[in-house]
Amino acid sequence: MANIIYNEATKEFHLQNNRISYILCVLENGQLGHLYFGKRLTHRDSFQHFIQMRTQSHTAYVYEQNFLFSLDTIRQEYPSYGTTDFREPAYEIIQENGSRICGFVYESHRIFDGKERLSCLPACYTEGEGDGITLEILLEDPLISMDMILSYTIYEDYDAICRSVRFVNKGEQTLRLNRALSMSVDFYDSDFEMIQLDGAWSRERHIDRRKLAKGIQSVSSIRGASSSDHNPFLALKRPHTTECRGDAYGFCLVYSGNFLAQVEVDRYEVARISMGIHPFGFTWVLKQGEEFQTPEAVMVYSPDGLNGMSQNFHNLFNNRLVRGRWRNAERPVLLNNWEATYFDFNEETLLDIARKARELGVELFVLDDGWFGKRDDAGSSLGDWYSHIGKLPEGVEGLSKKVEDMGLKFGLWFEPEMINKVSCLYEEHEDWVIKTPGRSMSHGRNQYVLDYSNKAVVDRIFEDMEKVLTHSRISYIKWDMNRNITEAYGSVLSGERQGEFFHRYILGVYDLYERLTASFPHILFESCASGGARFDAGMLYYAPQGWASDDTDGAERLKIQYGTTMAYPVSSIGAHVSAVPNHQLRRTTSLKFRGHVAYFGAFGYELDPNKLTDEEQKEIKEQIAFFKKYRKLIQFGDFYRLKDPFLNGGDCAWMVVDKDKKTAIVSWYKVLATPNPKLKKLLLTGLDPHMAYRCSRAGEVYGGDELMNMGFLTDMEFTGTYARTAGVIKTDSGTDQGDFTSHLYVLECCGNLS
Ligand code: DGJ
Repeated sequence: MANIIYNEATKEFHLQNNRISYILCVLENGQLGHLYFGKRLTHRDSFQHFIQMRTQSHTAYVYEQNFLFSLDTIRQEYPSYGTTDFREPAYEIIQENGSRICGFVYESHRIFDGKERLSCLPACYTEGEGDGITLEILLEDPLISMDMILSYTIYEDYDAICRSVRFVNKGEQTLRLNRALSMSVDFYDSDFEMIQLDGAWSRERHIDRRKLAKGIQSVSSIRGASSSDHNPFLALKRPHTTECRGDAYGFCLVYSGNFLAQVEVDRYEVARISMGIHPFGFTWVLKQGEEFQTPEAVMVYSPDGLNGMSQNFHNLFNNRLVRGRWRNAERPVLLNNWEATYFDFNEETLLDIARKARELGVELFVLDDGWFGKRDDAGSSLGDWYSHIGKLPEGVEGLSKKVEDMGLKFGLWFEPEMINKVSCLYEEHEDWVIKTPGRSMSHGRNQYVLDYSNKAVVDRIFEDMEKVLTHSRISYIKWDMNRNITEAYGSVLSGERQGEFFHRYILGVYDLYERLTASFPHILFESCASGGARFDAGMLYYAPQGWASDDTDGAERLKIQYGTTMAYPVSSIGAHVSAVPNHQLRRTTSLKFRGHVAYFGAFGYELDPNKLTDEEQKEIKEQIAFFKKYRKLIQFGDFYRLKDPFLNGGDCAWMVVDKDKKTAIVSWYKVLATPNPKLKKLLLTGLDPHMAYRCSRAGEVYGGDELMNMGFLTDMEFTGTYARTAGVIKTDSGTDQGDFTSHLYVLECCGNLS
């Protein structure tokens, strides 16, 4: 059970559930020391022996005549710079006299059942009594009359600690927060590999690994969004840790704006990991009585390898981050018209597509970009959220009704944060565009970003969207965001508050999301940013799924989806089958292969079904029927990565097992064929070793223990036609020859192994 034990004598706090422990203490100078994070420890009266102090030359000590107490060596919880710690701190406060030195000391704490909401920010929540328990520690710097409140929540059923910090200025002087990270932990050693999710447009969340080295290694974004370059996620794993075994720590920031995640390895090889809003360009002014709340960071630990770490995130995010009626709800199979028509459509084209989609089993038709204002290309109309009557004579209202009458749900694309110069909104409110006075404005995709740090802008966009949503039958919104912020400047912020701009911008985005999700709770939101350039835990709080990438090529998607599952649940990963040759790469892969990849996500299609052959239509019908049958298992079962495409020339495998281990689906992908290949087997995991499973391949039965120890042997490799043509062998090895092939097997439990 989740528990927080406070030991008055040693001033130690032990947060624990049945599987993990997190231990910290008040040090003799009143600051907080970090003692332990990892596998559960049996509680003891004292863990003080975890504190290591040593005399060393060439450093500084806190007390005169005491050559032991130096923050240079003591592992800390939320460190500051300049009082014997010379590493990068978690926070920095500029005072009126220019000093940056702080002296926060423990004042008091409270422990309470549940978790309080973070003001204006997305965060995990608790539900009902005993679900989670929170420790709030109040520290005070008496010289500047500032409070710092560190908050930690531990869950009963999820192996995660959620952390955040609040600063309150109680004094008369104006204080400037120059750095206010969400978390910091000093690990005892640095014998770790760091895993990060990097990329660019069309290749988001690729896995990168590096061994920790002395100094600072970091990932970050200062684009105004969490970005496709780096994701606000980091993992630390031991060198021997695999997908299925060994210690793995994961860190996710529940935030969608500029961020920094870094590990600093110091002279004693202590690894300090910290994460939060990027300090670059950030200054938050706190006048008397004002407070600042950091975003939340989620830290997970698993002894069961990277899969265990990821499952901790998946379970927590599915159950305690996603809210409302889409929490744990199966996601509709959708068809999006973007790659089918781009901007070139009218009501008739759309209805033709929708009709055919319905026939194939699709449940939701999504109308993408181009339905509003006078938008016929990417040059105009962003900001004019009313129907393009030239294309849709009866508006979205009429179209959505017709689509619903066919028996489909209707979804609509918006890009609420953007504006084109060619738009009515721009004519009315040129002043709402983000720009720096006296400087020229850069554009991206001919568009400009609206100043969401100005509440009037958010109010107006809400009103415009509300009208569309009230008058039409809309069940789904794809919320896109196609450029980053340049010439950052908040027109309603004073000069001294310009350092608040980026954070205030994202607070504006969250505000709009909050208002829309509250007013239209039935709508399923999908976040999107030129594909997956803002795919983060902050977004998941409002939009339970995200468009993972504009790259819909099956082979490329393996990498994107494999990487994305490091932190984010399958239910959240928008994944569509598109037409071939693929529009991003011109690559052709089979419909079967594309389906097998896209199944592992919020599944759908991104093509014109009327352009498919009869045979392809039949196959799609079967795909959709299969997916509907197993959708709950795929989206909410335990997902295991088995074969890493980044380490195996693109070849990949993963599986999903339902919570009671009765059914599993294994999917195995080969990217490039090899001649005369070696024998192949795949070690499965997550099954019940005492159960027998029948495999959909040929109805054969295997023991769970056998599949997890000997492995699953397959006919996956394929000899090509050479031997048969040459008359050497009589039988063909099947249709799965060549590049881009896949096998998908369903394993159903058929009794106990005797
Ligand atoms: C970028 C998105 O990622 C695409 O899916 C599509 O919605 C386009 N924008 C539309 O402009």
